[in-house]
Amino acid sequence: MGLVCLPILALSQGLIINTPNRDTTSLNGKWNYIVDPYETGYYSFHKEVYDETNVTSPSAYYNNYHAKNKSELVEYDFDKSPLIQVPGDWNTQKENLFYYEGTVWYKKSFDYDLKENRRLFVCFGAVNYRADVYLNGTKLGIHEGGFTPFDFEITSLVKPRENYLVVKADNKRLLEAVPALNTDWWNYGGITRDVILIEEPAVFIQDYAIQLKKGDRNIIAGIVTLSNPVIDEKITLSIPELEIEKQLTTNAEGKAKFEFTVGQNTGKEIKYWSPESPKRYEVILKTDRQVLKENIGFRTIETKGPDILLNGRPVFLRGISIHEEYQGRRAFSEADALALLTWTKELGCNFVRLAHYPHNENMLRLADKLGVMVWEEIPVYWSIDFTDKLTLANAKNQLTEVITRDKNRACVIIWSMANETPLSEARNSFLINLVNHAKTLDTTRLISAALLTREENGVGIIDDKIGEYLDIIAFNQYRGWYGGDLATAPDAKWTTPYSKPVVVSEFGGGAKQGLHGTKNERWTEEYQEYLYRQNLLMIEKMPNIRGMSPWILTDFRSPRRVLPGIQDGFNRKGLISDTGKKKKAFFVLQDFYKKMKLQYD
Ligand code: GCU
Repeated sequence: MGLVCLPILALSQGLIINTPNRDTTSLNGKWNYIVDPYETGYYSFHKEVYDETNVTSPSAYYNNYHAKNKSELVEYDFDKSPLIQVPGDWNTQKENLFYYEGTVWYKKSFDYDLKENRRLFVCFGAVNYRADVYLNGTKLGIHEGGFTPFDFEITSLVKPRENYLVVKADNKRLLEAVPALNTDWWNYGGITRDVILIEEPAVFIQDYAIQLKKGDRNIIAGIVTLSNPVIDEKITLSIPELEIEKQLTTNAEGKAKFEFTVGQNTGKEIKYWSPESPKRYEVILKTDRQVLKENIGFRTIETKGPDILLNGRPVFLRGISIHEEYQGRRAFSEADALALLTWTKELGCNFVRLAHYPHNENMLRLADKLGVMVWEEIPVYWSIDFTDKLTLANAKNQLTEVITRDKNRACVIIWSMANETPLSEARNSFLINLVNHAKTLDTTRLISAALLTREENGVGIIDDKIGEYLDIIAFNQYRGWYGGDLATAPDAKWTTPYSKPVVVSEFGGGAKQGLHGTKNERWTEEYQEYLYRQNLLMIEKMPNIRGMSPWILTDFRSPRRVLPGIQDGFNRKGLISDTGKKKKAFFVLQDFYKKMKLQYD
């Protein structure tokens, strides 16, 4: 539903949430595609953007134009163009697109009989990086950001037969983008997540937040938002298992706020969501036009001095970092998410850091179901243009979209604003802006960012100024890999001025699976194993240490890693290889978490 602002950028002026439980039609499958490095289908030879002129040009690829006779000149044809799988990245599906960065056009034809008084939306789980979307030749809008969902209404445009949905996907890296020019992950391009059609009544439940009130474990509070500003619309919110049924009425904005104490008349008590028992309740929202179901867990998360309290009890975050990659390609399916979380559970984790961007919604819904606490992050990664107002608006929009999508997931406990950003006043005000924005959208979760540290007289210091604005002090350190001695690591001193929980959001080292040698030989499993042992001994002595998410669960592709015979385009810091084989360090961390679990249980 739409876009406004900055050319016609899709800002989440109202994302439709909980898409899996709505009346949907999948458009996944084979799509025709055209590789267009010169954006010939978008610009005239004088660089005029076709869709900004009032002329319907047959040369504009989104018109899906076909020659009407043998003399007419048309220099593209989707229907004769090759096919590619959606969802999926183009890099690992087509060898000649492995390194490709630029524009690829996608086209999908479909029929749809939309009944009277019904509305239709097309929803994308994600398109990397910029998507220009058209239906039947009409521009629906633009979305920027490769890792968050967006949707457009197509009620007035859809036809019963032969609709053509065209997406111009462009993964060019840009200085002013988020992320910007430099990342240590593969810039997978394309329609990387599900595409669905959603049919809704004229006025429908578009968004809602249903969680425990901040700091109160017996009050459920929240808001339900309709698609339209309709006053006095009746909504029934029920949670059958807790014998809760509340009648809500919308205000002039089509919103209904609520707050109620659980068990007042029923004596029913909430079973709180936790990794040990990831209890979720079926929540039903009903109007006289629709019924919408959702599974929601209820838990409180807060900090108290150096402690992180889950449901009021101190918890240690036994974590691991994960990229959205499986078997050397962009992960997209539930099966991919299950494979990654199964390894995570096998490690003995109760926490994952989904790096460095919002992952697929199915990963969050599975973490909710399986009982894994989650750190979610937006890709404000390394150096981005902290002085550019449009870059800030873009980053804020990605934050809005991920919080809108996942705010009802009990498993999400931390929103992270950034990773390893260089110190500057511009950077500080940029991040403070994001922190404040996140707090306006969600008061119930903790805010953090992965910080860098400095050293003075051999002591590691975590005193980044931005720490004042964060609930959790998290930092990345690579003792024994990018510097520092492993033998003396266990005696290393660390200090921080913040009496807040400390989380080591990254540590680790590379190993080629199957390469063996002494503990001092880099790239061997023995070196990585020793690095883990020494770092864990160092970390457990750190001040206020309340968690960690070592770098990283599996080896992953990166254009920055080119050492022949060892890296070959992969960052090898995984505890598991890209082909699924565990390295020795996997078991070092598994043992450590067994011990930690006993300490906190
Ligand atoms: C950085 C960064 C990661 C990167 C890792 C590495 O800290 O946050 O994205 O992959 O270090 O160097 O392996």
